[in-house]
Amino acid sequence: MHYLAIQGKQKLSGSVSISGAKNAALPLLALTLLSSRKLTITNIPEVADVKTLLQLLTNLGATSTCNNNTVEIDSTTVNSACANYDIVRKMRASILTLGPLLARFGHCEVSLPGGCAIGQRPIDLHLKALEQMGAVIEIKQGYVVAKAPKGLKGATIIFDKVTVTGSENIIMAAALAHGSSKLVNVAKEPEVVQVCEILADAGVKIEGIGTSQLIIAGSGGKLLDIPDFKVIPDRIEAGTYLCAGAITKSKITLTNVNPKHLEAVTLKLEQMGFKIDETRDTLTIHPGEKQLPSDIETSEYPGFPTDLQAQFMALCTQAKGTSIIDERLFENRFMHVSELSRMGANIKLKGHSATVEGKAKLNAADVMATDLRASSALILAALVADGTTKIHRIYHLDRGYENLEGKFSKLGAQIKRLEE
Ligand code: UD1
Repeated sequence: MHYLAIQGKQKLSGSVSISGAKNAALPLLALTLLSSRKLTITNIPEVADVKTLLQLLTNLGATSTCNNNTVEIDSTTVNSACANYDIVRKMRASILTLGPLLARFGHCEVSLPGGCAIGQRPIDLHLKALEQMGAVIEIKQGYVVAKAPKGLKGATIIFDKVTVTGSENIIMAAALAHGSSKLVNVAKEPEVVQVCEILADAGVKIEGIGTSQLIIAGSGGKLLDIPDFKVIPDRIEAGTYLCAGAITKSKITLTNVNPKHLEAVTLKLEQMGFKIDETRDTLTIHPGEKQLPSDIETSEYPGFPTDLQAQFMALCTQAKGTSIIDERLFENRFMHVSELSRMGANIKLKGHSATVEGKAKLNAADVMATDLRASSALILAALVADGTTKIHRIYHLDRGYENLEGKFSKLGAQIKRLEE
């Protein structure tokens, strides 16, 4: 197994190019199931989760190639509607094939993803919405077995909670349904918006794109003439590199980024004492004179993203004073706390709230990555720790960060991938 060895206390400088968004690429690859033509998708991040979904689609009968961040994919040849456990268990987001498969074939079997490190993560809202669209759903031997022999019907769906992949699943299902659907309390994340925009480019009539209420006119089961497209930049990867600049007190520039998608994040950094310059597609962070503590509450977009909570916690360990971090989306997303504490961080947990006392002197240690974003918090802590930190189980990082060591090395970090 591989691990990362990071020698701390190095200044970073220069620029880093941000990859396409993993969380956009995944629903967009699932969306190819609704396409009547072969598609070319650019700015695809070459990360493990994308490879897993491509493997799942190939397993269903699609053909694809992936080179230089471009995927050519023909999902018109898909001839199976069964997403099996062996692939789904590797990645929860495989559930994104549920809506498109059911809408296209009138039946499907998709393995239940099960729990994960950051909590239970049910899919009840996906299932309830599909039932409202006329699907009959049973759970059999760990599989969601769904049937809608006459196709899905348009319906009014009010999501009880804002769910990102739930919204994407149902938007894709509604695009192929018979009749019109009204979706209320839809997620407004940029990744959800991109799914809607591409459907609109394919001729689907959608009102309310970018708002929490959508009206979608279904195609009545007809596959869609989806144009080739480019994946939006990864706002979570971008936020992670901004934190790297902040924690190491370095000036770094991010290119190929959409600053509008990061407003809640850059605002927090400014409140913490960092100066940020932006152009249409770059962000530059400057070292802060004083690093101030922060109060952070995660929430749905456009609020502060839960996927950057762990990274900001690492940053708060280096601010002078008390920071409070409230995790509002996932019940168990504090797995990084014990590892950060092993490096010398002073963090107290109470329910969904963490109190971080800074500034803590961090020391290198052997630490364990527990989930994708928790692992990046450990990298940030390692960048300012005394000595060489070893981060184990980095397969979590490979799920979502493209060319991580390459990008950090180019910025001047002393980072190596080694074999245990
Ligand atoms: C997506 C992102 C993930 C991010 C999360 C929140 C992808 C591939 N993943 O995950 O990186 O951390 O959004 O921004 O885009 N819930 C239910 N029932 C459901 C669905 C969700 O109770 O049927 C709850 C969840 O347990 C959680 C909350 O709703 O508490 C939000 O989860 P959700 O937005 O669905 O997260 P994902 O789409 O899985």
